[in-house]
Amino acid sequence: MCGIVGYIGQQQTVPILMEGLQKLEYRGYDSAGVAIYSGNDILVKKFKGRLSVLADHLAENPLPGKVGIGHTRWATHGEPNDINAHPHTSHHGKIAVVHNGIVENYLKLKDWLTTKGTVFHTETDTEIIAHLIEYYYEGDLVKAVQKAILRMEGAYAIGVICKDQPDTLIGYRKDNPLVVGIGQGENFIASDIPALLKYTRDVYFLEDGEMAVLTEGNIQILNELGETMIREPFHVTWDIEAAEKGGYQHFMLKEMHEQPKAVKDTLSPRIDDENRILLDELRLTGEELNHFNKITIVACGTAMHAGLVGKHAIETFARIPVEVEIASEFRYRDPFVDERTLLIAVSQSGETADTLAALREAKARGAHVLTITNVVGSRISREAHDVFYTWAGPEIAVASTKAYITQVVALYLIGLYLAELKGTMTRQQVGEKVAELKTLPDKIQQILDQQETIQELANKQFNQQSVFFIGRGIDDYTAKEGSLKLKEISYIHSEAIAAGELKHGTIALLEEGTLVVALATQEQLYDKMLSNMKEVKARGAYVVAVTEEPRAAEVALSADVVLTIPDTHNEFTPALAVVPLQLFAYYTAVARGADVDKPKNLAKSVTVE
Ligand code: F6R
Repeated sequence: MCGIVGYIGQQQTVPILMEGLQKLEYRGYDSAGVAIYSGNDILVKKFKGRLSVLADHLAENPLPGKVGIGHTRWATHGEPNDINAHPHTSHHGKIAVVHNGIVENYLKLKDWLTTKGTVFHTETDTEIIAHLIEYYYEGDLVKAVQKAILRMEGAYAIGVICKDQPDTLIGYRKDNPLVVGIGQGENFIASDIPALLKYTRDVYFLEDGEMAVLTEGNIQILNELGETMIREPFHVTWDIEAAEKGGYQHFMLKEMHEQPKAVKDTLSPRIDDENRILLDELRLTGEELNHFNKITIVACGTAMHAGLVGKHAIETFARIPVEVEIASEFRYRDPFVDERTLLIAVSQSGETADTLAALREAKARGAHVLTITNVVGSRISREAHDVFYTWAGPEIAVASTKAYITQVVALYLIGLYLAELKGTMTRQQVGEKVAELKTLPDKIQQILDQQETIQELANKQFNQQSVFFIGRGIDDYTAKEGSLKLKEISYIHSEAIAAGELKHGTIALLEEGTLVVALATQEQLYDKMLSNMKEVKARGAYVVAVTEEPRAAEVALSADVVLTIPDTHNEFTPALAVVPLQLFAYYTAVARGADVDKPKNLAKSVTVE
């Protein structure tokens, strides 16, 4: 994710950049830095850690100057440390760049620049941008940036300054946000509006592929062809807090809406145009894979639910036995893990104490450890043998949504990759699955577009004492996640139960009007599920069903309300069916006046046992 800011004008730049970065810290917080044109040079200060580390340093060592760029990082390429922190500069500090996003072909560009004599100092994809711009610089910064971006594939936004042109600040965006702040005798760029609100409420929104060329008295917007674009300024009327959440009422709602992008960002660097899976992070040969006799997944809470979905995917695709263990239980039960085990530790934060302890236990017993995590440089990522990063961006709301969905997608990719390696699926069969995976972002968006219907339902049902979630097969796993989401943010007691188990006890709890959320997405279990819905309805339950669109009419005969998801392959339904459940939990919590983003008794990362 990352946050970028830039300033050009007559005021001292550092306080303005620091103010902006503070408002963008929600976009990343593993390191921060500024580059200021000071004297006749560009001076850079950047440090690992929260923004306060940089702030303390700058308070002791002031950096005067009237043009500059700043960055707060959420690491993608290269671990979070001082060297990999932004801004990055080219040789002799001629060009300085801040960057948000990923340059997908950076390795190719790096190789090419190396043949031209460039020496690299960091592990980042950003450093190549600075060198590439310098390579093309012949006295005109705009032309140099235009040439550089023609060569850069991926989704990114950048801010650029040049030692030889200190009267110019450039911003460019492609599939990542960047706004331009309009001042009086000063101008700004930023990843998001809150960074600007103290100084201006008038902004230009850049379209993808557009560049903004700022001087202190002028802003020029250029399209991909270099033509000047005329843009109406937008006047911001929201307050800062609302703006930080991108206009959404809560981070959780914002993060649910980021799911299509999070899934796309997790998938696209790992699949090519021919729907082949490229998993550089899992360095296994077919022979090494055959050496493993099982896979064990360890995780907690929501991440453990992703693990359950992953178990089904890996067993179905690759026909390798998978067990899923609650990390806090794992190490105390003398687990069956040895050098023939591939252990997958799933953790959004990469800091969960129980998951870390389980990983260490497995490593000590000789297992090969792969982690799926969202945080580059986290403890779990440092201790695992291999790391699969989910590119969901920072998740601020305590209740996990976008991280969960990317964990599920990561496990789908791993399952399909292992299947091809093991020969249980052909290249073509894997390609067909990958083609379907690529449709998930649009399908998730279609569900998010139904949020008003789900809000109306929550507004009617928020007074429940107890809610039950039922499903069969993988729907049972989605039911577990829907139930956890509801209880953790709305404080309504809730339970998920395999639908066939109901009549063995839990059905005794049903009363007139008890809400039962029934998932019916599994083709082969569909008739059985309809019978279970009838069973609970006959005992007075109010049944909300979640099913695929083509089945809605039939399911409606056994339910009070039907929420639909677009049709997809059976194995992939959890990535869609969870979305209406997240929205339902969210709107129920809002209706009950709960503190959605910070539920009581919970913390975002649980670093104690
Ligand atoms: C629930 C939730 C938690 C986490 C769990 C593990 O919404 O977020 O259940 O999934 O605490 O956290 P990570 O994934 O950071 O290891």
